[in-house]
Amino acid sequence: MKILFYAAKNYDEKSFGNMIDQFPEIEIDYIEHELEPRTAALAKGYDAICAFVSADVGTKTLEILHENGVKTVLMRCAGYNNVDVEKAKELGIIVKRVPGYSPEAVAELAMALALAVNRRLYKAYNKVRENDYTLKGLRGVNFYGKTAGIVGTGKIGAAMCRICRGFGMKVIAYDVYQNPDLKDFVEYVSLDELLAQSDLISLHCPLLDDTYHMINIDSIKKMKDGVILVNTSRGALVDTTQLIEGIRLNKFLGVGLDVYEEETGNVYEDRSDEIMEHSVTSRLLSFPNVMITSHQGFYTLEALENIAQTTLQNMMDAAAGTKTPNDCA
Ligand code: NAI
Repeated sequence: MKILFYAAKNYDEKSFGNMIDQFPEIEIDYIEHELEPRTAALAKGYDAICAFVSADVGTKTLEILHENGVKTVLMRCAGYNNVDVEKAKELGIIVKRVPGYSPEAVAELAMALALAVNRRLYKAYNKVRENDYTLKGLRGVNFYGKTAGIVGTGKIGAAMCRICRGFGMKVIAYDVYQNPDLKDFVEYVSLDELLAQSDLISLHCPLLDDTYHMINIDSIKKMKDGVILVNTSRGALVDTTQLIEGIRLNKFLGVGLDVYEEETGNVYEDRSDEIMEHSVTSRLLSFPNVMITSHQGFYTLEALENIAQTTLQNMMDAAAGTKTPNDCA
């Protein structure tokens, strides 16, 4: 079985390379190109392709993959909003993903971002490096005794609930389903109640039609003044332009984003020599209370090992025609 591995980074080759001996039937060719309509035909002769969050696995790409005999799409990530699942079904292409490779990896980054913006760690780090030992601009708040509002209490949101409880916070949550594992310490409320009561809001729901831009100027106005907002889920949950409006209204103590609307094209690229012509992200970065990281929530040793193991097992299952909970189509 041959897999063409798109947008391969050295850490991918390492983690999959360490695991491949356990799957002697599988061969992988790694290429740096991102999967998109222009590069899809490179997969001619392969049984499967492996892609990540920044790939374009839309209608056109799937049609080209199908024309070239590719039968399986292996997403090496949890979210699959970049895959046209209906089209894949229509073409008979199996799509599998890695739903829960390490919920703690992402939840721990969410808390790291919340702490970093609260205590302005990025600013403190640079000040001390420049021999500036003043505390100007560094005052934060205690998390202990405050209210954490978690939107989406699946695997990652549940891990974030447990972390917040560990900080001595009251934990409230909003989800379309209630997670029974959390009933001892999490109180489910409506989204409006969560927005109104939380000192820290962390987003952990998938990007769907009904979650697109769920954080907009109307929802921001319902939040407490001095709230901290963290998004490690998907950029388009937040309307960036309206977030900027909210920041200008002084709503936020801090905003920590591992994902943002303009990230496609940036993710895992070095664009430090480029002049960004129309970047809303640059405007966001101009505020002293905003910290952005580049989709690194998944990037821990344990998560990479789990991603490699599950993706290769997904290939075996797809080849055997075995349906599993990892199937998207
Ligand atoms: P999950 O499927 O276990 O949980 C998602 C939860 O969101 C479910 O409980 C679901 O009921 C809830 N939900 C669905 N629609 C909702 C709505 N309209 N309002 C509120 N809640 C809703 O997913 P998991 O593994 O916890 O991942 C969450 C998201 O994190 C993924 O969709 C993905 O976008 C993102 N992610 C980000 C990573 C990063 O590197 N920053 C890495 C992995 C995932």
